[in-house]
Amino acid sequence: MKIIYLITFIFILFITSSAYSPRNENLNACDKLDEYVNSIYSEEQFLNYSDVKACYELTPYNETKAIEIIDAVKENLKGFYVFLDQAKEQPNSWFTFRPIDLISELDLILKNNYSYEFQFIYDVADLIGELRDGHTWLSSSNYHKYTFYQGLSLYSVIKKDCTQQIKVFNDVDPSTIDCQVIDIDDRPAIDVIIEFAKNNTSWSRDLSVRFNSALASLSFGNGDFHIFGQLFTLRTQLPKNPNISYTLNCNNKISKITREWQVPINDKSNIIRQYKSPYISGTSVGKATLIFDAFIARFYILQDFGVVLISTETILNDDDNLKYRFLSDIIVGFKLLADKGIEKIVLDLSNNGGGDVFVAHYINKLLFPNIQNFPLDMKVNNISMPFIEEVSKLKSQVGALFHYKTFISINTDKSFNSVMKFIGNNTYTRGGIQLKFTSKAFLDEASIYGGTLELPTPPKLPWTEKDIIILTNGICISSCSIITQRLAEINVPTISVGGFPNTRFSFASSSGGASFSTDSIVTYLTQLKNLDNSLISNLTFPSNLTLDFTMAEAYSIKNTNEVLDFSFRPADYQLYYDERSARDPSYLWIQAAKYIGK
Ligand SMILES: *[C@@H]1O[C@H](CO)[C@@H](O)[C@H](O)[C@H]1NC(C)=O
Ligand SMILES: *[C@@H]1O[C@H](CO)[C@@H](O)[C@H](O)[C@H]1NC(C)=O
Ligand SMILES: *[C@@H]1O[C@H](CO)[C@@H](O)[C@H](O)[C@H]1NC(C)=O
Ligand SMILES: *[C@@H]1O[C@H](CO)[C@@H](O)[C@H](O)[C@H]1NC(C)=O
Ligand SMILES: *[C@@H]1O[C@H](CO)[C@@H](O)[C@H](O)[C@H]1NC(C)=O
Ligand SMILES: *[C@@H]1O[C@H](CO)[C@@H](O)[C@H](O)[C@H]1NC(C)=O
Ligand SMILES: *[C@@H]1O[C@H](CO)[C@@H](O)[C@H](O)[C@H]1NC(C)=O
Ligand SMILES: *[C@@H]1O[C@H](CO)[C@@H](O)[C@H](O)[C@H]1NC(C)=O
Ligand SMILES: *[C@@H]1O[C@H](CO)[C@@H](O)[C@H](O)[C@H]1NC(C)=O
Ligand SMILES: *[C@@H]1O[C@H](CO)[C@@H](O)[C@H](O)[C@H]1NC(C)=O
Repeated sequence: MKIIYLITFIFILFITSSAYSPRNENLNACDKLDEYVNSIYSEEQFLNYSDVKACYELTPYNETKAIEIIDAVKENLKGFYVFLDQAKEQPNSWFTFRPIDLISELDLILKNNYSYEFQFIYDVADLIGELRDGHTWLSSSNYHKYTFYQGLSLYSVIKKDCTQQIKVFNDVDPSTIDCQVIDIDDRPAIDVIIEFAKNNTSWSRDLSVRFNSALASLSFGNGDFHIFGQLFTLRTQLPKNPNISYTLNCNNKISKITREWQVPINDKSNIIRQYKSPYISGTSVGKATLIFDAFIARFYILQDFGVVLISTETILNDDDNLKYRFLSDIIVGFKLLADKGIEKIVLDLSNNGGGDVFVAHYINKLLFPNIQNFPLDMKVNNISMPFIEEVSKLKSQVGALFHYKTFISINTDKSFNSVMKFIGNNTYTRGGIQLKFTSKAFLDEASIYGGTLELPTPPKLPWTEKDIIILTNGICISSCSIITQRLAEINVPTISVGGFPNTRFSFASSSGGASFSTDSIVTYLTQLKNLDNSLISNLTFPSNLTLDFTMAEAYSIKNTNEVLDFSFRPADYQLYYDERSARDPSYLWIQAAKYIGK
C-alpha cells in the first residue's frame, strides 16, 4: 500500500455499460436517474435539480442508523484522527475557524430531528468540514454522488484603488464573461462569497485560501491547464434552493440572470473544469516559451528567468514506469534551464491539490540535496496500537503508515529495531489532554516504493535559495506543501496570489501530514488476524460512507515542536488576480520574478 496525500474531487463518471431498457413505470426516483444516466439516448446529458432531490428524499431519516453512523465516526476519529484534541484549542488569530470538541458536537447532531437521511449526513459532513482540515472529510456515495453546476464560474479582481470585485470568469453564455457580479440572490456578491468561504469550504484554516477555493482560477495538472476550485458554483451537496440569481453589470448595463443547478453526466461532466485561455497554447503561456514538458511539470523561459510548474498529482494507475519517466523528465527540464544559463526560477504551484508524497520529496532533494523532509508521528492509544502491532507483522505492508519499517527514526537516522521502539513513549499535551504519540520519524523513501524506482542520479543544479521564488494561491495542499513549506524553511521566498486586498495569507495548506481513510481501516479489519471482536465492531464503517482524515502530523524542521498544520505561515509577498493575469499566468510570473533575490 502506498502512501498518498490527496484531495479527492468527487466528479463521478458513470458507468455506461448497461443496456438501455424501456421506461419502467415502477422505477423509483433514483432508479429513474440511473436509467437516464445509463441510457445512450440521453441527449441533454444533464439531470435536473428536482429529479435528484426526489431521489435523495426517498430515504427517510432513521435514528437507529444515525446513531450507528455517529458511533462509527467517533470511534475512528478517537483512534486515528491525529488533530482530534488540538482542534479544541483556540486558533492562531490569523486563522478563521472555531475550536471544536468534535466528539461532543457529533452527539449533539443526534438531538436534531431530520426528515431525510441526506440532511443528517450533510450536517455530519459540515461539522467535520468545520475543522477546516483539507485532509479530513466525510463523503457518502449516495448523497455526494452528483455534482451540481451553475454553468458559470466566478473570480475576484482587485482594482487599482484596492477595491475588490466579483466577476464572471467563464460561462456557457459568453456574453456574461467579465461582467461584474453585483448581487447574488439579492445580496452583495462579495458578502455572499465570503460567507460561503467561511461556512462552506474547508481546504484551509486560512480564510483567504478558502475564498480563493470558492472562486475559479487556473490550474496546471493532468498535462494541461483547467479551472480549479469554483466551489461556490460547483457543489457536491444538494443545494437548498433550485437556482441562484446574479445581478450583473455588463458595460454599465444592469441585468439579472437566474441559473438552475444542473448535474452534468456522461460526456458533459468534462465541461466543469474545461477552459480555453486565449493566452495559453501547447507551446507558450503569454510570452513565456515552453522549453520542456515533463507531463507533471512544465518548464518555460520568460524574459531572463525560468518558470517551472509542478503538479504533484498521483500518477495514473500508480504506474511505476510512467513515474520513472516523469521524474527523470523533471531532471531533464531543470538541466535544460541550467544549460541555458537561467539564473532565476519561479516555481508555480498554484492550485495544487496534493497527490504523491514521493514526487514532493523528490523535488526537494533535487533542488536541495542536503535537506531532510519533515518528521511525522501518529496517535498511540488502545484503538491504534493493535493496528500498528498487527500490520507491523506483515512484510507485505512495509510502506503502509501503520508499519514501523515505513519509517526512519529521527534520533538514529536508521530504521526502528522493533515495533515497540517505533511506538515509543512520548506524551504531549494537546487540547489540554495528555496523549501518546509514536516516535517522531521520517518516511523511508525506499520502503514507500519498495526500492523499485531507482532513478538516475540528478546532476548538481546551480540555484540556491536566493535564486528561486515560490508562487501559489494558497491552494497548495498536502504533498504540494511538503515542497513549499520545506523550501520556505530554508528561506526560499514565497508569494501568494488572490485573497483580500493587503492581507498577507498562507502559501500552503494541510501541511505535510499523511491522510488515511476508513475504507483502508475496513480492509484491515478483515485482513488482520488478532483484532479484538469489539474493536472490529466499533470501527466497522457503514457502507457507502467514507471518512478521510489526517492520520500522521508533520513537524517543522526549524522549530522542532511546531505542528505545521496549526502554524500560520503567511507568504512573504502578495499578488492579485486581474482580468488578464487570471487568464494569463505569465503576467503573475513577471511580477513574481521581480521579488527574486530581494
Ligand atoms: C425536471 O424533470 C422533470 C421530470 O423529468 C420534469 O417534469 C421537469 O419539468 C424538469 N424540470 C426542469 C426545470 O427541467
Ligand atoms: C433503521 O436502521 C436500522 C439500523 O441500520 C435498521 O435495522 C432498520 O431496519 C431501519 N429502519 C427502517 C424503518 O428502515
Ligand atoms: C420529527 O419530525 C417528524 C416529522 O418531520 C415528526 O413526526 C416526529 O414526531 C418528530 N420527532 C421528534 C422526536 O421530534
Ligand atoms: C454561516 O455561519 C454563521 C455562524 O455559524 C451563521 O450565523 C450563518 O447563518 C451561516 N450562513 C450560512 C449562509 O449558512
Ligand atoms: C453551509 O454550512 C452551513 C453549516 O456551517 C450549513 O448550514 C449550510 O447549509 C451550508 N450551505 C451551503 C450552501 O452549503
Ligand atoms: C428559483 O427558485 C425559487 C425557489 O427558491 C423559485 O421560487 C423560483 O421560481 C426559481 N426561479 C426561476 C427563475 O427558476
Ligand atoms: C481505551 O482507552 C480509553 C481511554 O484511554 C478507556 O476509556 C477505555 O476503557 C479503553 N478501552 C479498552 C478496551 O481498554
Ligand atoms: C514512559 O515515560 C514515563 C514518563 O515519561 C516513564 O515513567 C515510564 O517509565 C516510561 N515507560 C517506558 C516503558 O519507558
Ligand atoms: C467498543 O465500544 C464500547 C462502547 O463505546 C467500549 O466500551 C469498548 O471499550 C470498545 N471496545 C474497544 C476494543 O475499544
Ligand atoms: C450503497 O450504494 C449502492 C450503489 O449506489 C446502492 O445500490 C446501495 O443501495 C447503497 N446502500 C446503502 C445502504 O445505502
